Amino acid sequence: MVNIGVLISGSGTNLQAIIDNINRGEIKGKIQIVISNKKDAYGLIRAEKAGIETLYINRKEFNSVEEYNRRILDELKRRKIELIVLAGFLNILTQEFIEEYRGRIINIHPSLIPSFCGKGCYGDKVHQMVLDRGVKITGVTVHFVDEGTDTGPIILQSSVKVAEDDTVETLKERVLKVEHELLPKAIRLYCEGRLVIEGKKVRIK
Ligand code: GRF
Repeated sequence: MVNIGVLISGSGTNLQAIIDNINRGEIKGKIQIVISNKKDAYGLIRAEKAGIETLYINRKEFNSVEEYNRRILDELKRRKIELIVLAGFLNILTQEFIEEYRGRIINIHPSLIPSFCGKGCYGDKVHQMVLDRGVKITGVTVHFVDEGTDTGPIILQSSVKVAEDDTVETLKERVLKVEHELLPKAIRLYCEGRLVIEGKKVRIK
């Protein structure tokens, strides 16, 4: 059993997908803690309903992003977390944090990286940019986290067709459905020890 820590900022539908997969016995892991940087994140309620420990850590109570990250790290290490999942966590991770958990932090991004990603490209903005650019295909990427923004080794990708009459809302909904399949799948593979990072690439054993 892999000890999993999930970091969230919002509604937590991806967190719910992970919880559901674990409850169905499809992932050899256990979520030990859900941490949010937003007090009213609905994901915290989802976690509580599932009997998972939750923690809200307020960035404003820390003088620097380094101190804030150190606190999150301490909470994760204290619970012997082996895999960190960023499920809609909208906050910067420091170098120290990433070094401590290198190759053990997974993020989900709602586009086909390296398109529509990088600094400032998150949440609804991603879908708006996709629509503005007029691409016909977008998608979902699950990747390991490194020092850059959305630059880490890619684990899984899946495409989603953009419809002519799509709005941010309709596109987001279809992309989310795919996210809910891809993120648990990547976690399942990780927990089975089947993900091998080779430089920029991830090989699935
Ligand atoms: C998802 O679109 C995810 O890709 C992005 O933030 C959103 C989180 O949604 N990083 P939810 O909180 O899991 O519902």
